[in-house]
Amino acid sequence: MRAQQDTAGGLRHLITLDGLDREALTGILDRAESYRRLPGQPAYEGRELAGTTVANLFFEPSTRTRASFDLASRRLGAHVLNLDVNSSSRAKGETMLDTIYTLEAMNTDVFVIRDSEPGMPEFLIDHVAPHVSVISAGEAHVSHPTQGLLDALTIRIHKRRFAGLKVAIVGDIKHSRVARSTVRALQTLGTTDLRIVGPESLLPGEHEFQGAQRFTRLEDGIAGADVVMMLRIQKERMAQSASLDDAAYFREFGLDLRRLRLASPEALVMHPGPMNRGVEISSEVADGPRSVIREQVNNGVAVRMAVLAAIAATLTRHRRPL
Ligand code: NCD
Repeated sequence: MRAQQDTAGGLRHLITLDGLDREALTGILDRAESYRRLPGQPAYEGRELAGTTVANLFFEPSTRTRASFDLASRRLGAHVLNLDVNSSSRAKGETMLDTIYTLEAMNTDVFVIRDSEPGMPEFLIDHVAPHVSVISAGEAHVSHPTQGLLDALTIRIHKRRFAGLKVAIVGDIKHSRVARSTVRALQTLGTTDLRIVGPESLLPGEHEFQGAQRFTRLEDGIAGADVVMMLRIQKERMAQSASLDDAAYFREFGLDLRRLRLASPEALVMHPGPMNRGVEISSEVADGPRSVIREQVNNGVAVRMAVLAAIAATLTRHRRPL
């Protein structure tokens, strides 16, 4: 695989958090904090991406990630192309690579890609032109690097540290690219007490999530936790979705106010979205005072701006001269 960073340490692509050290992650989070504006404040407007064209290619559904890459690109002055993939030629059988080459020929500099095929982002960074970057917006169940970064940023803003925190991630861990990237980010940043919690059938194999403790009872997993992150059951990645009963799942693994009392009184409640209220989380918790779910969305724009700006700065060194 081609490297994600160039020899000067500049970010060229972002398809995984593996291999990025604490300094690299902290640099992105610091930059994201400088771009962060609360709802109601005027959004940051900059020229960091002036003259850059960003194409969003989402071959799986998305609300937050797609909208935030779009807004992040525009707020930094990029031209943005949101390809309608259902009516694009890939639906007619054109390969992903041919779609990329077509858009490269139109001077697209950055591809933001979400796809259900594991390995697709890696394949693309090995084939794009030297002046082109690829950012993964979600690779199958494998990784979702900007989500890992926005989760880390949200925790950092509230807790101001990563070491010594107890972080519980609850739900369909097995199919979750969010859990994989968020755990990777937190481990790199210094969190050691990580718990993955869910029914046995939704926990990953033992070789994955090394360093995290496993729990099959919600009450045990979230006891004393500083952060409780709830995940959706990803029925689209399961063979027999019908066998899971939503009400029975909520009784065992749903986060309601009574169970939240088992966590630290200062616990943050997180969820990457989309939420299934009444399945993994009750509305009182999702909309309650411990919830930072909409802050995660706000931080998602800032993190994507930071990643795009870092990549654009590197790309200027790899551009063709006029
Ligand atoms: C997640 C995803 O697509 O991986 N959503 C997101 O990007 N915020 C989680 C999910 O689909 O459950």
